Amino acid sequence: MSTPSPANDQSHVLMTGPYPPWDMEPLARDYQLHRLWEAPDRAAFLTEHAPQIRAIATRGELGANAELIAALPKLELIACYGVGTDAIDLAAARARGIRVTNTPDVLTGDVADIAIGLTLAALRHIPAGDAYVRSGAWATKNMDLVTRLYGKRVGIAGYGRIGAAVARRLSGFDVELGYFARSARADSPHRFFADLTELADWCDVLIVTVAGGAGTQRLVSAEVLEALGPRGWLVNVSRGTTVDEPALLDALAQRRIAGAGLDVFLNEPRIDPRFLALDNVVLQPHHGSGTEETRRAMGQLVRDNLAAHFGDRPLLTPVV
Ligand code: 8YV
Repeated sequence: MSTPSPANDQSHVLMTGPYPPWDMEPLARDYQLHRLWEAPDRAAFLTEHAPQIRAIATRGELGANAELIAALPKLELIACYGVGTDAIDLAAARARGIRVTNTPDVLTGDVADIAIGLTLAALRHIPAGDAYVRSGAWATKNMDLVTRLYGKRVGIAGYGRIGAAVARRLSGFDVELGYFARSARADSPHRFFADLTELADWCDVLIVTVAGGAGTQRLVSAEVLEALGPRGWLVNVSRGTTVDEPALLDALAQRRIAGAGLDVFLNEPRIDPRFLALDNVVLQPHHGSGTEETRRAMGQLVRDNLAAHFGDRPLLTPVV
């Protein structure tokens, strides 16, 4: 359902990065947009426009830090294009009574789909198989054998909307499922683990879906990777911060885990170049929600939240 924008509201909205054209056009029609990413001098740009800005429209990976929030004295709302608000300083927002919204639900299915895709791509070496056919190597020798998914144990770290959607999809794959969460879920028939290392020890594939942020920093530690072991696979669709990345790179290079499927990294998009040299990882450019259908729904939800705020209606998906 979409709520109408207040006609010609023309409130001042700061954008930290671009949205697709189908969002930029209505946003530019309804608001006075300030495009921070185009400013040659960010500080001067903020000094000039800060007194008018009432909302930020940001993206999951760009967020809004304490410094940006502090620079905007009239800020009332931070609308995030993304479900993860780990790059937004929520404490700074709360302290000033600034509301925060995100885009949950509309992207759940896509992120769960990429988790399944990465799992199959990694175990079955699908990108390597594609390269094998294209190179002509198939004509001289059959490709090396790979690893089966069905019959394996899959552990899901985090059983929120995305973790539960991954479990629903995997229920059709003839695998045994376990999950790690703060507490056992009455709505899950799968095996609950209160300890992530124990889940990693139990499973063959560990799929990470937890939210990013201070509470989940390096949750997938060297110890968890050790427990996953040389026949274990890691799939991460959450945030790069949730994994001890240097430990993961070492474990992959030394085959102390079998391999990984990764959509998220530290320092995106300039990721650690060691990943590029590894033949046991399948890499994606943080594209879990990156379908046109989902991105259209995310943009609509951001615009609906802005319209609700400026139209004095309840926010659709408030975080703060
Ligand atoms: C996006 C995301 O990649 O929802 C999130 O938390 O990480 C994403 O869906 C991002 O916000 C799009 O710019």
